[in-house]
Amino acid sequence: MIAIVLVGGEGTRLRPLTLDEPKPVLPIGGVAFLSLLLDRLAAAGVTRVIFSCGYLPDRLRAGIGTPPAGVEVEVVIEDEPLGTAGAIRFAAAGRVDGPFLALNGDVLSDADLGALVRAHTAAGATASIGLTPVDDPTRFGVVVCDQDGNVERFVEKPPNADGLGPAPWWVNAGFYVLDPSVLDLVPPDQMVSIEREVFPLLVGKGLIACQAEGYWRDIGTLQSYLAANADAIGGRLQTRLGGSPTTLIVDPTATVAAAAQLIAPVLIGAGAEIAAGAVIGPDVVIGAGSRIGARSIVRSAVLLDGVEVAADATIERSVLGRGATVGERSSLLDSALGTGEIVGSDQALTDERRPS
Ligand code: GDD
Ligand code: MG
Repeated sequence: MIAIVLVGGEGTRLRPLTLDEPKPVLPIGGVAFLSLLLDRLAAAGVTRVIFSCGYLPDRLRAGIGTPPAGVEVEVVIEDEPLGTAGAIRFAAAGRVDGPFLALNGDVLSDADLGALVRAHTAAGATASIGLTPVDDPTRFGVVVCDQDGNVERFVEKPPNADGLGPAPWWVNAGFYVLDPSVLDLVPPDQMVSIEREVFPLLVGKGLIACQAEGYWRDIGTLQSYLAANADAIGGRLQTRLGGSPTTLIVDPTATVAAAAQLIAPVLIGAGAEIAAGAVIGPDVVIGAGSRIGARSIVRSAVLLDGVEVAADATIERSVLGRGATVGERSSLLDSALGTGEIVGSDQALTDERRPS
């Protein structure tokens, strides 16, 4: 089985983190999102993964690392963004000759992709969409089905829930099985959205949907990125890290002062240094080589590699990009710092400075 993974988006809602790092490369519980996705695809029996990208392709390639045994990886680069359907068509050209998986590259899930493939085959479907329940349908593609799973309507980002039935709403979870004939519906070399232009055409023509069980989260926003990290270290999402509510994973090369306090779940990377009196956790990931000064408080936060937080600072519900620096007594709430960004001493940042 082949899987095409869409990773062309610029991750605008995660700026400034994504200004120089594509979203799929960002770590979740200390492991690049892409590596977690490859683990999952390998477990579903996928042997070839094609990443469809355009934004920062070199960083993306570097972030893939070593794929799991038995999985061949290829990166296909668009000159211009072709939209979700255009990108799938471009990546599939000359590479697929039977039903294949297509996935949004920003969805963290442990849903059984093999089950979707089996449902697709059993129904003789043209296209099959995995579904997940949400409370706010306006940010997703809402799928309305009959009892047999035949899709009756596909509405991408409805302005409100009017006419969509009661909560919870079942939405496109961002993974599909597609018959190659679907590609014939996509005009070449132009921007085409599978959600807005292709799925509506397939309603009544072999488009089915299956409810996916298990963990599911779109990591598109700062809040969801933090929540995904908390879920991975807290064990609500099982990853190769093997997190649990009591996770206190401190790399053997990290230094934690005896008078520092760690509140599980916490993950501290290689060579990190935590000074006396610091309080770290819960729900904190500290990247390799990062340093936390004396008495600083870090809670519900992700610090990527090489971050420096001086003494008496407070970091809460925030993400600090690689090599970012925070001065003494500064506080960051609901904030994100980009790579190498510097916040001086005695500053107070809140979400106001983040782009919406
Ligand atoms: N290669 C490529 N080219 N990839 C693209 C392009 C493109 O032009 N445009 C978007 N992508 C990738 C993004 O990187 C992301 O991984 C995926 O396609 C989906 O795009 P998003 O921009 O993240 O869409 P969304 O989150 O607003 O909505 C989508 O996902 C929801 C589930 O999270 C839709 O598929 C919804 O229907 C769905 O419910
Ligand atoms: Mg998304």
